[in-house]
Amino acid sequence: MGRLDGKVALITGAASGIGAAIALRFAQEGARIAGIDIQDLADGDWSEALRLTGDGPLHKVDVRDKGAVANAVAEVEAQMGRIDVLVNSAGVAGGGPVHLIEDAEWDRVMDVNLKGTLHACQAALPGMLARQSGSIVNIASVEGIEGFEGGSAYNASKGAVILLTRNMAIDYGRRGIRVNALCPGFIDTPLLRSTLELEAMNEIRDKIREAHQLGRFGQPVEIANGALFLASDEASFVTGQALAVDGGYTAGHRFGISGMMGLD
Ligand SMILES: NC(=O)c1ccc[n+]([C@@H]2O[C@H](COP(=O)([O-])OP(=O)(O)OC[C@H]3O[C@@H](n4cnc5c(N)ncnc54)[C@H](O)[C@@H]3O)[C@@H](O)[C@H]2O)c1
Repeated sequence: MGRLDGKVALITGAASGIGAAIALRFAQEGARIAGIDIQDLADGDWSEALRLTGDGPLHKVDVRDKGAVANAVAEVEAQMGRIDVLVNSAGVAGGGPVHLIEDAEWDRVMDVNLKGTLHACQAALPGMLARQSGSIVNIASVEGIEGFEGGSAYNASKGAVILLTRNMAIDYGRRGIRVNALCPGFIDTPLLRSTLELEAMNEIRDKIREAHQLGRFGQPVEIANGALFLASDEASFVTGQALAVDGGYTAGHRFGISGMMGLD
């Protein structure tokens, strides 16, 4: 028996990385899946998820386009009957220090990460409200909890996603809808690789890895397992939370004094 048997899940950003891993993990647990992404080329995880479920349309939609998101959600509801679980994973990196960031870059990051999440929630909520049931999982970030050099727009967008999540949990809890955020540490996906492959990152790549107390980057499936918990009925009393799945990134700092403390 699967943990999402009989559920319909819509995942944004489903073509790649964390979103694709969530689609696959949900499909393995019995969910029927649908996806939204601007890319039409799906990577291995999405294709494998489709193989398991037999259906699962991938709607080529930009989450910044409110009308297009609403149409895609209406199509999914018409084809699959309803949406029980919404996962907002579509996201972009970007930013820069406040005194240098251009308005266009600020808007691009905020529009995809925050407004895109808002648009998908706005489209899926009426159906969930009508059924008095639903679970929404917003993929935020550890960078929505803590700052990171030069991360102004990205970190502000993810911090806002966490507060949007908490507010929605308050607004919709008594109507049977749970809303939670998941805050990944640094996860080995195309998004992270494209950032860390920059030559400028050579010296700090290892430092970022070591900031995770488990001493490594995470894998997409480890985030998918967290999303599975929050989406499923196992989390039936969990709402308004920001769950860090981060290998200890937000646990605190390690300055290398373990030897002095008799730990090494
Ligand atoms: N990888 C990490 O280290 C990490 C850490 C914390 C949080 N996150 C968050 O996890 C989520 C997924 O990131 P990922 O690492 O899997 O990245 P990814 O680039 O592998 O996947 C993101 C997906 O979102 C899609 N997308 C981007 N803009 C879109 C738009 N406007 N409309 C529709 N789809 C769009 C992309 O096409 C892509 O398929 C993002 O919200 C990201 O901020 C990632």
